[in-house]
Amino acid sequence: MPQRRILVTGASGALGDATVRSLRERGHRVRGFDCSAARAGSPESEDHVVGDLQDVDALYAAAEGAEVIVHFGAVPDRDDFVQRLVPVNIVGTYNLFEVARMRAIPRVVYASSCRVLGALDWTTETLTLEAGFAPGDHYGLTKATGELLGQLYSHRFAITVLCARIGWFVRNRNEAEKMGTSEVGQRMYLSHRDAARFFELAVDVPLPAFSAVFVTSANAGRPIGDPAPAERVLGYRGRDVWPEGSSWDDDRWFASPRGSSSLLPDRGEP
Ligand SMILES: NC(=O)c1ccc[n+]([C@@H]2O[C@H](COP(=O)([O-])OP(=O)(O)OC[C@H]3O[C@@H](n4cnc5c(N)ncnc54)[C@H](O)[C@@H]3O)[C@@H](O)[C@H]2O)c1
Repeated sequence: MPQRRILVTGASGALGDATVRSLRERGHRVRGFDCSAARAGSPESEDHVVGDLQDVDALYAAAEGAEVIVHFGAVPDRDDFVQRLVPVNIVGTYNLFEVARMRAIPRVVYASSCRVLGALDWTTETLTLEAGFAPGDHYGLTKATGELLGQLYSHRFAITVLCARIGWFVRNRNEAEKMGTSEVGQRMYLSHRDAARFFELAVDVPLPAFSAVFVTSANAGRPIGDPAPAERVLGYRGRDVWPEGSSWDDDRWFASPRGSSSLLPDRGEP
């Protein structure tokens, strides 16, 4: 497997931290970028840039030499649309794609979300690409906008863009407890082990110019999202079923104590 130089944004967060670790374990040269410091003393702090996604110069400098960007940096849930979601998730993602264009970085992996389809009834429907976009809240809208930015930059500037519509990667013990009692949550479950496998493939395998895929573990019952695109595009198929594949007794995984309490779409809110 070729060793790649990879920039991971959101590297101090739950998915970013876990992905930096697993990509480094595979021998890739990984630089983290986050507005927060890497966890003190962790291997991630070896090459970690503290910077803001809204600061194009900082992003541009951090992206020097990168062959792939994995873009996790975001406000990862409902928040103030104008003050928080637009500046980070939309303007920050625009900055990211602009830097990829300016640096001629050939591949961007964008952390999207099943919540681009949050308005659908997840208890009765399996989410498909054919459903297009149907966000159920402003967060889902920003994730859909990020996918559209990816489509634009792929089409106009020949950047290969993969949009990973992630299910539920548990960020902390509170979320693990919530998932334990949620049937829909368990159908969205993405284990740490499957996430590592997915992002290892995402930085490595040949990809079409633009693609979007649903990313969860195998899970029991009807899948939350159609697993076929991930299998077709990357050869990825989830293996774990909740609670397999995550080390609940291992504090390393819980990099993000602030985690969300409302990952599932909560109909009734605007
Ligand atoms: N965890 C999940 O279940 C899940 C599901 C679907 C999609 N996602 C997406 O995956 C990505 C990572 O989510 P997570 O669960 O690891 O969240 P997280 O909150 O643990 O990590 C997000 C990281 O982004 C950083 N960040 C926020 N604003 C920034 C800014 N302006 N500049 C630089 N860094 C900034 C934060 O400091 C944090 O470390 C997000 O894009 C999220 O939308 C996560």
